[in-house]
Amino acid sequence: MRYHTKMKKNLNRHSEPLTLLGGISAETFLKEYWHKKPLLIRGAMLEFEGFLTPNELAGLACEDDVQSRLISYVKKQWKLEQGPFSEKRFAKLPEQDWTLLVQSVNHHLQEANDLLQQFNFIPYARLDDLMVSYAPDGGGVGPHFDSYDVFLLQGCGQRLWRISQQEDLSLVEGAPLRILQNFQTEQEFTLSAGDMLYLPPQVAHWGIAIGDCMTYSIGFRAPSAQELAAEFLNYLQENRTLVGMYADPDLALQAHPAEIGDGMHKQVLSILHGLRWSDADVADFLGQYLSEPKSHIVFDAPKNISLQAFEKRMRSRGIQLNFKSQLLKVNRAFYLNGEKVDLDLYSENLMMKLADLRKLFAEDLTPSLKVSKHFVALMHDWYLSGFILLLK
Ligand code: SIN
Ligand code: CO
Repeated sequence: MRYHTKMKKNLNRHSEPLTLLGGISAETFLKEYWHKKPLLIRGAMLEFEGFLTPNELAGLACEDDVQSRLISYVKKQWKLEQGPFSEKRFAKLPEQDWTLLVQSVNHHLQEANDLLQQFNFIPYARLDDLMVSYAPDGGGVGPHFDSYDVFLLQGCGQRLWRISQQEDLSLVEGAPLRILQNFQTEQEFTLSAGDMLYLPPQVAHWGIAIGDCMTYSIGFRAPSAQELAAEFLNYLQENRTLVGMYADPDLALQAHPAEIGDGMHKQVLSILHGLRWSDADVADFLGQYLSEPKSHIVFDAPKNISLQAFEKRMRSRGIQLNFKSQLLKVNRAFYLNGEKVDLDLYSENLMMKLADLRKLFAEDLTPSLKVSKHFVALMHDWYLSGFILLLK
């Protein structure tokens, strides 16, 4: 019950004016701007300067499990290098016209997770990641468009954003990154620390650093119909067994042995018509697919710990999802990192809270509160797999 009251409060927050959205509510933002048109928000995060220095960002780009890119524009040619980088690489960079991009910073830093929490008026299933960029004067990734909704939040320094809702989205051929051939500026804004620009997919944009500049991009993925269909067909392949075999006891003589006859065509048509799916299959597919970690993600297992010792620590400290974990709910089922969660009915509220807040505090788990044995065992299991962590 306590939880439901809190949830209601959280939903009320969605009709309150938010500084983050320039004084409009999340409700109004969704109705008028989300996935529709750009919004410039001055002072979206007052006093925000970012939580990474350029050096710390470069440090992340040197790590093996971090995806990073270095983009430069040299002699009128775009150049793309993939990380991880060595420290030496950074020492050799020119004064200007390059940028370093680090993907999924939210997999590594608590501050990044706290930042993303402010955008929880958008479902987690739409979230892709937080990308952080650094560029010296003149640096950027060139004029392009994304298939993502993105909030471009300015960290330290300034960036000139040029945007255009042009229809011509043709790309420069042969470039190592997607650069628009004919970018036509329609509007431009200079963003300073704490300002934010929201862009829906397909809006052309070009960000140019004015002096040293860091940008925090909160990106929301929008899968293409083709990608969804391909993934769903994969799901069907793994979850369907069609019985029977092609059979032709009445095979008639054909004039042309090279011809695929009508009989064969019709029989295959009828076998394939046996491939059906329901709303429940689509829900199960979505739960698995949208909570599935990207292929490069690995979870490190902690030191083994007994169930009893774990329960004691969990109840006194609380738990949080590993930054790389994705816990989603569809209908009444939960999915963690690509797998359906085997949950007892009694623990549904607790699991919902863990999914929404990505945390359970000690007060949610104190020994005086009844937490099912099944839930404790499940958390122990997730802890040993590295999917959750104990709070400090
Ligand atoms: C950047 O931070 O430089 C790139 C962000 C973008 O244009 O999507
Ligand atoms: Co972009």
